[in-house]
This record gives sequence, C-alpha cells and structure tokens, in this order.
Amino acid sequence: MDPKQKTDDRGDVFAGFRSTFKSFATEAIHVGQEPEQWKSMAVVPPISLSTTFKQHGPGNHAGFEYSRSGNPTRNCLEKAVAALDGAKYSLALASGLAATVTITHMLKTGDGIVCMDDVYGGTNRYFQRIATEVGLEVSFADCTKPELVKAALKPNTKLVWIETPTNPTMKVVDIKACSDVIHEHNKDIVVVVDNTFMSAYFQRPLALGADICMYSATKYMNGHSDVVMGLVSTNRDDLNERLRFLQNALGGVPSPFDCFLCNRGLKTLHLRMERHFKNAMGAAKFLEADPRVERVIFPGLPSHPQHEVMKKQCTGCPGMITFYIKGTLEHASTFLSNLKIFAIAESLGGYESLAEHPAIMTHASVPEKERCLLGISDTLIRLSVGLEDEADIIADLEQALAAAHPMKN
Ligand SMILES: Cc1ncc(COP(=O)(O)O)c(C=O)c1O
Repeated sequence: MDPKQKTDDRGDVFAGFRSTFKSFATEAIHVGQEPEQWKSMAVVPPISLSTTFKQHGPGNHAGFEYSRSGNPTRNCLEKAVAALDGAKYSLALASGLAATVTITHMLKTGDGIVCMDDVYGGTNRYFQRIATEVGLEVSFADCTKPELVKAALKPNTKLVWIETPTNPTMKVVDIKACSDVIHEHNKDIVVVVDNTFMSAYFQRPLALGADICMYSATKYMNGHSDVVMGLVSTNRDDLNERLRFLQNALGGVPSPFDCFLCNRGLKTLHLRMERHFKNAMGAAKFLEADPRVERVIFPGLPSHPQHEVMKKQCTGCPGMITFYIKGTLEHASTFLSNLKIFAIAESLGGYESLAEHPAIMTHASVPEKERCLLGISDTLIRLSVGLEDEADIIADLEQALAAAHPMKN
C-alpha cells in the first residue's frame, strides 16, 4: 500500500495517512458471522451460555466440549478479529491484562523482556512487580529510537513489548523499523504490539513485522465501555498453538455475553474510529491554539514529534489527546472538575468523552521517579474524545479552561 496515495473520501483529517484496509467494514460485519453455522440460520450470532456440549460418543463431539476451551460465541468474535488484524489466528481473553499475562506465560524463568519505557500503568506494574518475582528479567527502553531497542537486547531476550502510541504521553513507535532491528538481531524474539489505542481500523502491527498484536478490547475494539476483554492475534502457527493451550490452561477467558457484546461493537468500529479522529482533531487544534494550554500531544497534529511515522504506518488517529495545562495541579484539578460532557473517569475508547489525571489515576502505580522521567506531571491531562458533537466537545473544554484560568494569560 502506498502511504502517499490519495486517501479515500474520508475527509481532510485523513490527508496523508494510509488508505483504509481493503474491505475492512465488510469483514467486520460478515467474517465469522455466517448464519449457516447455526441450525436456526440466525443472522446475529446467538449467545451460547452453555458451559458444556453434548458429545455423540466419548470424544466424538461437534467442535465444542467445554466453554473454557471453546465457545461458539467466542469463536465468532475471534474469527472477526483475526480478519480485521489481517491475521490467521485470534484469541479472546478475559481482559487486556489477562492477554498480557497469557502472552508472558510463553516465557520461562531466566528469560528476558524488553518493554517500551512508557506503557499502560498496569502493564508496567505486571512486568515490574509480578513477572520479575517469578524470575523473568525485565528492562525498559525508549522504542521510538530503534538503536536504543537494539542496545537493550540481550542473549536471554525472548520478548519485546511495544505500545504505540504510548499511554499517556503518546510516543509513537515505528513498528517496522523496530521489528526489523529486533528480528535482524534474533529472529526468534517475539515482538508484541499493544494496539489498544489504535484499534484494528487504524493500525495493523502484524503487517509491519510484529509477531503478536494485542488489545485491551475494553477500549476501542468494543467501544461501548461495557465490556472488559483482551484480544491477541498472530500469523504464526507455533505462537497460536502455544497461546491457545495457555488460553485454556490458564483459564482467563471472557464470558459468552461479553464476546457477543464485543463482536457487536466491531460492526461499527470503522464508523466510530473515523468520528473519534474527526472530533479529536477539532479538540486538539482548539487546545493547541489556546494560551491556557502549555502543550498538546496528539499524533494527528504536525507538531507531534512522530507525526510522519504515524502517517506512514496508520490509517488515522484515535480520540486520545494528552495536554499540559498551564499552572499547577490545582489548575488541572479545577479544569477536570468543571468538565460537563467529559466524565472524569479511567479507561478510554468508548463512545462517551472521558478525561483523567494520569499521575493520580491510571498511572499512580508507576513509581513517582519514573513518572517524572516520562513527563507524567501534575499538569498532564488525558482526554478520550468521544462521539458527541464536535462543537459541544470544544465548548466543554473551553468553559473548563475558563474555570481553571479565570483570566486568560
Ligand atoms: C494500552 C493498554 N493496554 C492494556 C490495558 C489493560 O487492559 P484491561 O484493562 O482490559 O485489562 C489498558 C487498560 O487501560 C491499556 O490502556
């Protein structure tokens, strides 16, 4: 795909980004959903709540035995996700962290993990406080610079964990450049990309050289803030075999109802993501022009340090904006408390706009010293721009800024 080729008819915000993945919407709506798989010919996949499945004779079953090892509703979701990731295989887990834990369980005591230095707080906590306790060696590197990743690789490195854009400072990693450096060093190192912020609609890490693409589907993939779930995709037979074994053996599987909801959420992923991008671009431009704002970090803006990488590897940007408000913690708190459309809440990627204070909320589990180094300061605010009217979103930001800074400076 030529990144410079004229984008589809998606409007100005998409100018310069890669074209959408071919037949994305059609696959989101149809792959894995074939009515012919059910005796009833149901167009919408039924929620198969049964935990167990009758066998014709011992060991002679119709594809399902026990719901932890396989469930018809989960199957529909997994097939759809695999198609959207351009993957051979996809697996659903009980949460994004359950996906992280399941992937990490492929490693053995003494193995090493190199992790992007700025990742979701829970990922950081798991690697630093749990993985290390069971004998894994974890180090951190700034993956925006492939040479630093290369320098961090050791003979025992088995896994590199990349998040892009990072949460919350929105650093963007060149997935292809990073994967190439890692695989040239050792082709057996498993490169994982946490694709939570982008969703399958805006970024396909597997096509860029990653071995595994994972999500907190709790966010954009489900998109309705009513499911906690993780997803893992891969093209590698060996990884799929191991991960499928671990999915069943560790048991961190989602419920059929959650699978039904997430599967339903995927049907509008393309529409939601386009609107998230449009609204976020409007909000980011407004914030960048406002004198009460110190700095805006939004990969869709030319001011973002890796804007060009973003355009080269993505088909658009999600609704995530990070900005530093001028002043102190008090200004940040006053701004947040005065928002009316945005709810002060953790999480992101739902249809509703959310705002949060990473240092106090989502990233409180990251040690303070590391937070400072990463720029997660008291004045940093993270927005998840939802699908409301763009003008209302901007008006809400404007009035909350006015409350925090009664006099424009
Ligand atoms: C980028 C990222 N990865 C992983 C996770 C963990 O996912 P979950 O909360 O579904 O366990 C989160 C949660 O916020 C996240 O933002």
